[in-house]
Amino acid sequence: MTPREGGEERMEPMVLVEERTETAPACEAAPKLITVEEAKRLEPETVADLFTRHLNPGQLHFMKLLGFHKVIIERAEGMYYIDREGRRILDFFGGFGSLAFGHNHPRILAVRQQFQDEKRHEIAIAFMSQYASALAANLAEISPGDLDMVFLGSTGSEAMEAALKVAEQAQGPERSKILYAENAFHGKSKGTLSVTDSALYRSGFELVGNTMRVPFGDIDAIRGAMEADPSIGIVVLETIQGGGGIIEAPDGFWRELRALCDAHDVLWIADEVQCGLGRTGKFYAFEHEGVVPDVTALAKSLGGGKCAMGAMIAKRDVYMKAYGQPKNAMIHGPATFGGIGEASCTAIEALNILYDDGLMENAAVQGDYLLTRLRDLQAKYPKIIHDVRGKGLMVGLEFADFSKTMPFGLRQVLSVLDDKLKGSLCGFVGALLLSDYNVLVAFTEYNRNVIRLEPPLIAERDHIDTFVDALDDLLGRGIVRIVTDFIKRHARAR
Ligand SMILES: Cc1ncc(COP(=O)(O)O)c(C=O)c1O
Repeated sequence: MTPREGGEERMEPMVLVEERTETAPACEAAPKLITVEEAKRLEPETVADLFTRHLNPGQLHFMKLLGFHKVIIERAEGMYYIDREGRRILDFFGGFGSLAFGHNHPRILAVRQQFQDEKRHEIAIAFMSQYASALAANLAEISPGDLDMVFLGSTGSEAMEAALKVAEQAQGPERSKILYAENAFHGKSKGTLSVTDSALYRSGFELVGNTMRVPFGDIDAIRGAMEADPSIGIVVLETIQGGGGIIEAPDGFWRELRALCDAHDVLWIADEVQCGLGRTGKFYAFEHEGVVPDVTALAKSLGGGKCAMGAMIAKRDVYMKAYGQPKNAMIHGPATFGGIGEASCTAIEALNILYDDGLMENAAVQGDYLLTRLRDLQAKYPKIIHDVRGKGLMVGLEFADFSKTMPFGLRQVLSVLDDKLKGSLCGFVGALLLSDYNVLVAFTEYNRNVIRLEPPLIAERDHIDTFVDALDDLLGRGIVRIVTDFIKRHARAR
């Protein structure tokens, strides 16, 4: 088509195929692409091969070590993954907190299906989005105090990056120093990595400066820092540390922090990416102390377990100071996929389900039951279980460190397996829970002795009994047999 006078368009005269072949460049052979249907049918060996060649060979190494590479999931429903052989795997991992609604919640599926059937639009950068606006309004309605202004992105890192930026912009360059905590995890983008306390994740990167690290939950350390350095204008903390191994601050800490921040005019960013959205029995974990941060962030389950959705929510005055005028409105304006249609509607539906189905109350009740049962198990195996902790359905189970006490012969064999797993019961327990009991649990980035339990908030008492009974049975084998069974399975798996 070529434009005609007056803006109309007309068809070019038809060109005969024979004429065109003489001048057109030879058609390149189409690349040989795998189709969706072929992808669904790939054999485990082929998937492993493609994973090694094109995704992450090092990661596959760990999956192999644990025997996870043999499992190909066919579908997932509620509390379960279902593999190709029809084996149902109980999900106590919950995608590190991203599956509050379980797998493929029917209401989430229905809303997405309808959105597609109605051929609604996704990208809305040019126009106002009714879906993004409604989602932002819902988040403001749920959030306490005047946490009213929302930035929508796709991931937790993006939401936390937005949180750090809005705080810095509001405080100005003289007050831009950030306090963060030991063992913190806020993401792997450059900004969030700069307040993430991991030598491994940071290694080799030039980070954003002007930060200071304090022990998590230590109000005196924070007070000391703020009193000594007036350039500290921001403090960023997970309300419950996830990657650190389900670590809570002492009772009263958040109230003291609020008072301290008010006294020193410091902005408090509460990272609720993992602990938020009802997981601890309240929508935000900071609500347990009746306090309100200046900025917070959600992601993971906000996408209903079906898509990527992240949100930064700031107090109105903080946001307005940073981006409230036309001249600064676009400094951190919407990203291409921020608040896209179907994801926004999925998140709207997810928030409605959370309240309609009483999932926060369920998280509190089932969480208490899980903690009680695990504490009974700790009493039964005091030498193996070092600690049981958490709130709601965000639970950490810390095993005793066997790296020194394991029989010498076993230590030798295990050190051949891998440095990372040596002496860590979590790897053995996690691998055997999957292979022998069809239960999936999560490991912890910074503390190899902690198993993280973040099952969907739809979990029922029966699911908890199934999990704890499996663990009881496994621990009943004793350490030496657990390790030798792991080695046997491992030898078979490789
Ligand atoms: C507390 C916390 N903040 C931020 C993030 C980063 O989220 P994402 O992986 O979606 O970028 C995570 C991810 O695990 C998290 O646990």
